[in-house]
Amino acid sequence: MRVPLASTQLRKKDIAAINSVLESGNLTMGEKVKEFEMAMASYLGVKHFVMVNSGSSANLAMVEALLRPTNSKPYLLPGDRVLVPAIAWPTTIWPLVQLGLKPTFVDVNLKDFAIDLVAAQETIDSFQGSVKGIFPIHPLGAAIKRSILEEFAQANQLVLINDVCESLGSFSEGHHAGDVGSAASFSFYFSHHITTMEGGGVGTNDSQIADDLRSIRSHGWSRDRTDKTSWEENVSPTDSKFLFVSTGYNIRPMEIQGALGISQLEDIPEFLKIRREIAFRVHSVVKGSRLELVGSNKLDLENERSHSWMLLPFLLNGSKTNKLREIAVEYLQKAGIETRPVLTGNFLAQPSLRRISADFPSPKFFKNASIVSESGFLIGAHHDMSEYQIELLESTLEKLVSLLD
Ligand SMILES: Cc1ncc(COP(=O)(O)O)c(C=O)c1O
Repeated sequence: MRVPLASTQLRKKDIAAINSVLESGNLTMGEKVKEFEMAMASYLGVKHFVMVNSGSSANLAMVEALLRPTNSKPYLLPGDRVLVPAIAWPTTIWPLVQLGLKPTFVDVNLKDFAIDLVAAQETIDSFQGSVKGIFPIHPLGAAIKRSILEEFAQANQLVLINDVCESLGSFSEGHHAGDVGSAASFSFYFSHHITTMEGGGVGTNDSQIADDLRSIRSHGWSRDRTDKTSWEENVSPTDSKFLFVSTGYNIRPMEIQGALGISQLEDIPEFLKIRREIAFRVHSVVKGSRLELVGSNKLDLENERSHSWMLLPFLLNGSKTNKLREIAVEYLQKAGIETRPVLTGNFLAQPSLRRISADFPSPKFFKNASIVSESGFLIGAHHDMSEYQIELLESTLEKLVSLLD
């Protein structure tokens, strides 16, 4: 593929950072991970950042922390319903299923593919008191409007956790996506805004949740908690290294991931600038055509920082759009431009859900998610793209829009 969806993205300085960890012999989670966590917390403007081995693990750890906090009553109880968008990633949904909560799907809007809060309100009303949480995805680099999300959660007394795995670097009302509610997950998988190869983490302003996340990622250990001395008071010094205070997994990152994260984060402003420029140039080609660059309303200067362009989401407008989608995807593939569906498409149509329960509603009840499945697709917007690749994208799209119109 001449314009792939993702790129390896490691520069000489990143490889040097990895090599220096390997040469140091300090391989398992330690000082580099700690340093990266402090840099991430400062970048996001939150009190704590806890790194784990993937964005999926970050989601799992967040949900676990809400169900079984060590120092307070649970925020959520097994059986509680948690609202999720119908265009979702599987590992936003699975931690809820695995830990006994009920993912409750809500249609998305076509503006940016985020959860539709009007439909969310109707869902809450229809389940009469059993919806206790909301787990929105900030999709593909688009931050959900902060004040609206916060007010919605507060008005409905919902626990709010954010999946920001696709939207590091996006802002709403001067804040990074995900800084409201209990916590937010991030992914540093290799095609994302920054990479640690695999990797992820949770940002939170809640010190107790942060301490629980530190235990949960590491077998339930007390070792990395800020309150560990209070747990250790009645235990002999030899035993204190083997004190387990919560449920847990082993989802720790490695030191090379911490070092790589530090090296990458230093350059995130530049990465985001390139991604926005690509989106701007592509929008200039497709604007006014049947091929809409979803999120292009956030390209104006005032909102310059609001979108971080994980990929370029397109939606075909007008009639017979599923036929046109086929034509467009084939045309792009032939020109060497890789495409993919928008996340998983309408998640209700995935066979895995039916295997869990017959109670999940039919995909047809999620009209916008079905439109996104049938008429939407993604193209890469990677900060590694060369001028040649961007020009190829522009010229191919130019020909495609005249073909479609
Ligand atoms: C919305 C969302 N949540 C979670 C994840 C999982 O992240 P990871 O691939 O790091 O496990 C992804 C993957 O990109 C995602 O798009």
